Amino acid sequence: MPDRDAAWTRFEAAVAGAGPLTRLFEQEPGRLRALAVEAAGLRVDLSKQPLSAAALEAGLALAAAADLEGARARLFGGDIVNASEGRPALHMALRAEDGAGYRAAGDPVSGEVEETRARMAAFAEGVRTETIRGATGKPFRAVVHIGIGGSDLGPRLVWEALKPLQPRIELRFAANVDGAEIAAALAGLDPAETLVIAVSKTFTTLETLANATAARDWLAASVGTEGAKAHFAAVSANVGGAGDFGVAADRVFPFWDWVGGRYSVWSAVGLSCAIGLGWGAFHRFLEGARAMDEHFRAAPLASNAPVLLALAHLANRNGLGRPLRAVVPYARRLALLPAFLQQLEMESNGKRVAADGAPLKRPTAAAVFGDAGTNGQHAFFQLLHQGTDIIPVDIIAAAASDEGPAGSHAKLLANAIAQGEALMRGRTQDEVIVELQTKSVPADEIARLAPQRTFPGDRPTSFILLPDLKPESLGALIALYEHKAFVEGVLWGINSFDQWGVELGKTLASRVLAELEGGPAGDHDPSTADLIARLKG
Ligand code: F6P
Repeated sequence: MPDRDAAWTRFEAAVAGAGPLTRLFEQEPGRLRALAVEAAGLRVDLSKQPLSAAALEAGLALAAAADLEGARARLFGGDIVNASEGRPALHMALRAEDGAGYRAAGDPVSGEVEETRARMAAFAEGVRTETIRGATGKPFRAVVHIGIGGSDLGPRLVWEALKPLQPRIELRFAANVDGAEIAAALAGLDPAETLVIAVSKTFTTLETLANATAARDWLAASVGTEGAKAHFAAVSANVGGAGDFGVAADRVFPFWDWVGGRYSVWSAVGLSCAIGLGWGAFHRFLEGARAMDEHFRAAPLASNAPVLLALAHLANRNGLGRPLRAVVPYARRLALLPAFLQQLEMESNGKRVAADGAPLKRPTAAAVFGDAGTNGQHAFFQLLHQGTDIIPVDIIAAAASDEGPAGSHAKLLANAIAQGEALMRGRTQDEVIVELQTKSVPADEIARLAPQRTFPGDRPTSFILLPDLKPESLGALIALYEHKAFVEGVLWGINSFDQWGVELGKTLASRVLAELEGGPAGDHDPSTADLIARLKG
């Protein structure tokens, strides 16, 4: 196998030597055809990324040197790709068709996936058709989904993206241990008409247990302790832990240790969405992701959307040293996508050692931020256009929309397209001068304004075009990013499926809490000790 480090060096050199994006379009007539691919109904256009033909070739050679195809086969084959936790990462099994026959570390899993899916479908439809009701006989009008991180961000994104304008069953979410969050989630709801779903892979997470306890007390105060059981469900890989919490066995929906939290929306973690949207819509969401799985598994690497999206990111991150990336969905309903991708990418690939523990030679995941377009244009886009750092942007848009006034969607799309063009083309000082001269601006004024109004350009964007914002497209979009993160992890040589970096803060928080609650003072630096002393009850 070719040497991975040498392949990296060649890729970085090819990217660094690619030259401006506009020149690449002049030099490479086949550029759009090579870098814009169709995948599971999505068009992924990476032609405004710093991948010259030579850089792309070097990137594909890097993929070969890293044995990406072998790694992909091990991922889909249910091998233990999460070595530090000794687990496969088999989220694709959750969205596979019945009878798919996935195996995790050799053990068949598709049967229990299908069984749980059938239970989810029956429960969701039971709640929706009002055959499943609360303790007082009233149908459920609201679902409060309690979970955090991977047990929250996916369902929250899916609900915001797909919820009807006037939902029959309202979904509320509570993640933060800030009491304001559960208070807001429960405010105005009638406990007799509310179903609470506690979602936690481990069922040990501080925030979720605190909020679930508060919600259970709120239910019990209205319908009694026994009655509250009819209003409570849990989703967990720790079925025993959910049972110990007092959730009735037939209300506990399992998932498995081979499902990473940030890859779990396809499991029973999506139960609240299945209730709110209906099983049919949730199933279509799974089908969209499955179509992307099939593309990722079968398409040649040179036209494989997750692979190309990953190479574009690596070109910016490693070839050009860019530590940030903006994600701007031109769809209000996708406003939570940046937050979802922050966990997916930064928790998966924010690592400084390789899977074997060796320190990495190269930077890994970029920090992700963003907001819905066009809102972001009136906030942080100034920096994207004229700031000192070049920050690549993912622009996401849906071709069709049937919401809102006629004409709004064209305005939205025009902005999405124009921003990509403006970031790449920029505007030279000469162009600014000519424009101001044609407006008869005085020469001294032109001299003063021209530098301010110049745009350097050559700022890269990816454009991901969904046909619409329907369940299939959303499923395909999320799976696209999941596989992109996997490809990046393989090329960097890291384990994308563990998250040890979140542990230290949790451990120290429990020590600090003990002190805030009156326990003996611990050994702290002066600043930390001062904060504890000031805030101690
Ligand atoms: O703190 C990070 C994390 O472990 C995430 O990886 C996970 O999605 C989240 O906490 C919630 O964990 P759980 O689902 O076990 O409550």
